[in-house]
Amino acid sequence: MNRPEIFVFDAYGTLFDVAAAARRLAADGRFPALARTWEALAESWRLKQLQYSWIRALAGNHADFRQVTAEALDWALEARGLAGIPGLAEELMALYDRLDAYSEVPDMLASLRGKGAKTAILSNGSPAMLESACRSAGIEALLDGVLSVEEVGVFKPAPAVYGLVEKHFSVPPAHTVFVSANGWDAAAGAGFGFRSVWVNRRREPVDRLPWRPHVVLDDLSTVPELAG
Ligand code: LAC
Repeated sequence: MNRPEIFVFDAYGTLFDVAAAARRLAADGRFPALARTWEALAESWRLKQLQYSWIRALAGNHADFRQVTAEALDWALEARGLAGIPGLAEELMALYDRLDAYSEVPDMLASLRGKGAKTAILSNGSPAMLESACRSAGIEALLDGVLSVEEVGVFKPAPAVYGLVEKHFSVPPAHTVFVSANGWDAAAGAGFGFRSVWVNRRREPVDRLPWRPHVVLDDLSTVPELAG
């Protein structure tokens, strides 16, 4: 790879484990119905959230990611037979602001910076959601920037979103390493011109899109090897 100057990370699903909200609430036992359903709920929630983000981007009808996430949760709760349980949606949304970061994230970011690389987030998340998630995961001080799509008012994979990196850091796409665990995001990032890394934790097939990631990793731990 070219000598990278900046490593830019997707947030949800890449640095933060989006299943953690439902998993944590299921584990604390206050909502027994979650014991059997939390995994399916988390899956439906995430899928609908992404679908709604794409549909809003295509239709030119933007709302921030908190609203999209809440609307997707509302759908997913009904789909999983969990609608109308007092407090459940509110608790899940509150936990979404405090998602666990994957365990390798802090060391990985510190190691990149130790090698002189800059680190940033580029996410659909609203600034408030991202600030809260970074603070609760304790990774704020390990990032040189947190870029939100709110600045351009459209979701990924609109090219205007990926263009935010050059705008803020004056680093051309070819010198930007873009890391995402979302196959479609890694593909679109490659299409935009980034050096693109797909973190394929679930060993899924590569997306059949016009672009392919340049590097595929099992998790984030070896990302620093791409620096320098
Ligand atoms: C994000 C979504 C795609 O953080 O996970 O941008």
